[in-house]
Amino acid sequence: MIVVTGATGTIGRALAGRLSGHDVLAAVRRPADLPCAYALADLERPETIGALLSPGDRLFLNSSLFPGFTAAHRAVIDLAARAGVAQIVTVSVRGARPGQRLGGGLHGEVDAHLRASGVPYAILQPTGFMQNLPGEIRGGLMHGSYGPGPVNYIDARDIADVAAALLTRPAGPGSDHVLTGPESLPHERIAERVGAALGRPVRYVDLPVPEMAAHLERQGMPAPFAADLAALMAETGDGRWASATTEVEDITGRPPRTLEDFLTDHRTTFATP
Ligand SMILES: NC(=O)c1ccc[n+]([C@@H]2O[C@H](COP(=O)([O-])OP(=O)(O)OC[C@H]3O[C@@H](n4cnc5c(N)ncnc54)[C@H](OP(=O)(O)O)[C@@H]3O)[C@@H](O)[C@H]2O)c1
Repeated sequence: MIVVTGATGTIGRALAGRLSGHDVLAAVRRPADLPCAYALADLERPETIGALLSPGDRLFLNSSLFPGFTAAHRAVIDLAARAGVAQIVTVSVRGARPGQRLGGGLHGEVDAHLRASGVPYAILQPTGFMQNLPGEIRGGLMHGSYGPGPVNYIDARDIADVAAALLTRPAGPGSDHVLTGPESLPHERIAERVGAALGRPVRYVDLPVPEMAAHLERQGMPAPFAADLAALMAETGDGRWASATTEVEDITGRPPRTLEDFLTDHRTTFATP
């Protein structure tokens, strides 16, 4: 059986759709409309996930970040090891390592725990999701602290495709996969392309890190988080995570979706001005 956590999320919902024909069980917090069977479970009560696992199962371990994320994911990994799970496929982030800002640090700790768990694993390390873009554009403006450097975005559907491939083929002992979209672009170009797809102008506004942090705070983000997020944007903009990899195509047999592919399929998710 393939047990899928985070099945109501962006990646998990796409993954559940791709696993039809397999024995799949989604672990969800509340009843959900899904294309597979589900059981109620909560990562914050790891034993409820552990109770769903049997020897030889495959586990897709993914959720959004929450206080206690690291402890919860580590506990589920330990329970999976004890249950004799055949493979854990998890979603991390490119550049994750302990001590990194925000999710990078949390994922770095979970990834290290998984590598040492003895359970065969595949750690997916994607760049930022194209699915974030609609939420980042307001009134035709997209604010950031990326500067002029190229930044890579991946369509989250490609992460689901990779996970589906890895969960349905024989599990290797352990592997990390840096997943990217096909090209990296400065935010000015990304905004232009979004505008072209939507048929109205979209402009990127680059702000120094403290101003971007204040901008995010005005939108309701807590101050420490806003400061870290703005600083992370500047780090990302220096190009450290901009190189494209061939992992999506190597694993799925087809190239990753382009920004245009994403925009064609998600035009209606962008707010009208
Ligand atoms: N966004 C990006 O640009 C980006 C880039 C790289 C990596 N990532 C990583 O991608 C992951 C998020 O993936 P996603 O975008 O597919 O997630 P998502 O759309 O935000 O959905 C989150 C999922 O996690 C579930 N969840 C949250 N807390 C839970 C809990 N306590 N117990 C059980 N399920 C819980 C949610 O269930 P409910 O429906 O019950 O809330 C939902 O199914 C994160 O690890 C993030 O760090 C994101």
